[in-house]
Amino acid sequence: MKISVIGTGYVGLIQAVGLANFGFKVIGIDIDDSKVKMLNNGICPLYEEGLEELLKKHTGKNLEFTTSYEKIKDSEVIFLCVGTPQDNNGNTDLKYIFSAVDNLKKHISGKKYLVVKSTVPIGTNQLLKERLNGYNIEIISNPEFLREGMALKDFLNPERIILGFDENDLSSKEILKYIYQYFIEKNIPLILTNYETAEMIKYASNAFLATKISFINELSKLADKTNADIKTVSYAMGLDDRIGKKFLNAGIGYGGSCFPKDVKSLTKQFESKGIDPKLMTATDSVNENQVKWFFEKIKNYYGDISGKTFAVLGLAFKPDTDDLRESASIKLIDLLLKEDAIIKGFDNVKRARENAYNMYTLDKSKAFYGYNLYILDSLVEAVTGVDGIIFAVEDTKFNTIDFENIFNMVNEKVIFDGRNIIDNEKIKKIEFEYIGVGLR
Ligand code: UDX
Repeated sequence: MKISVIGTGYVGLIQAVGLANFGFKVIGIDIDDSKVKMLNNGICPLYEEGLEELLKKHTGKNLEFTTSYEKIKDSEVIFLCVGTPQDNNGNTDLKYIFSAVDNLKKHISGKKYLVVKSTVPIGTNQLLKERLNGYNIEIISNPEFLREGMALKDFLNPERIILGFDENDLSSKEILKYIYQYFIEKNIPLILTNYETAEMIKYASNAFLATKISFINELSKLADKTNADIKTVSYAMGLDDRIGKKFLNAGIGYGGSCFPKDVKSLTKQFESKGIDPKLMTATDSVNENQVKWFFEKIKNYYGDISGKTFAVLGLAFKPDTDDLRESASIKLIDLLLKEDAIIKGFDNVKRARENAYNMYTLDKSKAFYGYNLYILDSLVEAVTGVDGIIFAVEDTKFNTIDFENIFNMVNEKVIFDGRNIIDNEKIKKIEFEYIGVGLR
């Protein structure tokens, strides 16, 4: 069976490579010519463990990339994986979805199945059905739950597969069960439902996790003003199965391409139906404020931070990725630079360092900070001579740092742990000052 995947961003590329690895013949379609060329040469445009190896293994064999929608005509099943960014008002912009579907229309011959993997507001699949009225095409909603840095593992071991169907169509179920046979044999829970439920499951899952993070982040402020230790609070809460220990780590806020956007989109979806989105608004605003609150803590420690030098360890929105989108670390760096601090940034992922360097040198709105910002290839260089070390990403590799050794390299002995990842008791024994998030 031939399969097409429209959009070779995060979701699309993993889907295309993953399905090729299952043995299907896959065509990846993207409007970006340079990206298509890279992919056909086996070069991966994004950082994800193991992805480039698999790409190289299948490209030119059962996997190819093209900018031409014409190739779709041989595929029975088409996965739609284009981006759904936010517009200026926080609503989901469906322009890439609509333009892909309109391009698709020109090349439909014979029966097709369009599987929508992009995150789309509730009601979108029904809208697409209307847009494709009169064409021999069935739509299936199949939201994606991949985490960056874990994407291949998540692709192979999903916790559930959601399939939303048109209630009058029977053939879609069979075709999807055929493609996802591997998962069915592994007894991965399969949820067969209608479009709207499938669409809501995706937003509900991401918004719930984001809310869990904002919940503990809000509590961390109270812990800060009292003698409570937020890490122990999280740990003890997590021992209750009903609560669960994951996504309960206080920090400087969630980022990435999904949580911030999805929470904002859900807020707008409530509003569009005349419902006051109280909880979603709070989740979003706690998150927006968390990094500012931590910045104030840093500032209060010194009184004036102008001319102070900080090592900022971790640049991406989380560990093991090069993705800087909505990164709390970058937001913190921006706040520090605006008050004339000097930043020495480091991330364990080389491509995250490169992306940060490019962003600050190429992005006009940030370029003027350039002379106060250094992105370094070595952690030791980053911490040498600084007035404070800031941990901005929950990268466990930072735990192996030899703080006794670092002690003599820094100017002021203070650690701001924006992710509560450093062993605070150990640090304090070496006579570093320790300032965490609801943790001292
Ligand atoms: C998320 C969802 O997990 C995934 O299912 C969905 O498909 C896309 O969005 P991802 O964006 O890759 O995946 O990031 P994730 O690992 O979920 O982390 C999101 C953010 O939350 C990160 O910035 C992380 O630092 C933050 N986080 C996570 C916390 O601040 N505290 C926690 O306890 C957990």
